[in-house]
Amino acid sequence: MVKLSDRLEKICSMIGEGERVADIGTDHALLPIALFERGVTRTLILSDIRPGPIEKARANIDRRLPGEVLDIRLGGGLAPLAVGEADVVIIAGMGGLLIADILSSDPEKTRSFGRYILQPRNAADKLRIRLAELGFVTFEETLATEGRFICEIICASPGGGLQPEFAPETEGLSAEISPLLIRKGDPLLPELLERKIKAADAVSERLTNAGAGKEQLLKRSEKRAADLRALLGSLESDGGNDGLPTVTENTYAY
Ligand SMILES: C[S@@+](CC[C@H](N)C(=O)[O-])C[C@H]1O[C@@H](n2cnc3c(N)ncnc32)[C@H](O)[C@@H]1O
Repeated sequence: MVKLSDRLEKICSMIGEGERVADIGTDHALLPIALFERGVTRTLILSDIRPGPIEKARANIDRRLPGEVLDIRLGGGLAPLAVGEADVVIIAGMGGLLIADILSSDPEKTRSFGRYILQPRNAADKLRIRLAELGFVTFEETLATEGRFICEIICASPGGGLQPEFAPETEGLSAEISPLLIRKGDPLLPELLERKIKAADAVSERLTNAGAGKEQLLKRSEKRAADLRALLGSLESDGGNDGLPTVTENTYAY
């Protein structure tokens, strides 16, 4: 059986039995291989924009699932999929802006799939804002580790006109730190906040040393660090529940 990282394991656990899954940017194909091996689903489409990863996926499937033929397609974004062909679309391990662009390129096709599991490597805040603009409902967020990284996993549905419960704003922390993570008290959230505070402090120090002309940027960076510290402090004082009902781990399993 293929061994998955905490990041891929958490994504894997979000797939229901027999669901039709598309893994966009599959690369090594470890996630579809695990879903197949574990008997979660055999209705899998694997795609990648580059021939190299497609070959890697084929080689891994031949090695791990000898004699099995999986549906592997070459192409960018959602282009290799037919309208409505998948219940769940996974787009993991790409930049947040690239994921946002993939979702924006053909909104009608994007809306034809049941739900998305998105795992941006960066710019998760910009992805959350784009999801809200596109009318997506984000119903679950989870943090996971991989190596020295803390990864954000966002589960969202195209929504059909529903308003997201939390519409992230371009200012403030709501796009950067999902209220869903705060509500459910994700165990990795304090560590994520500490890392962000450290990075923000380093930026403030560089801006201070840069001298005149950087006052506005410095003010913004210090405000962000202060907001992050206040949020971390509130998690430590009330366990992070914020007085709100806890969102359970199974919220996505509908
Ligand atoms: C870092 S790998 C992630 C592999 C796997 N999804 C994971 O999360 O471990 C990113 C993969 O996305 C592919 N990719 C990049 N842009 C893409 C696009 N627009 N459409 C499809 N695949 C893309 C790359 O070729 C690469 O194989």
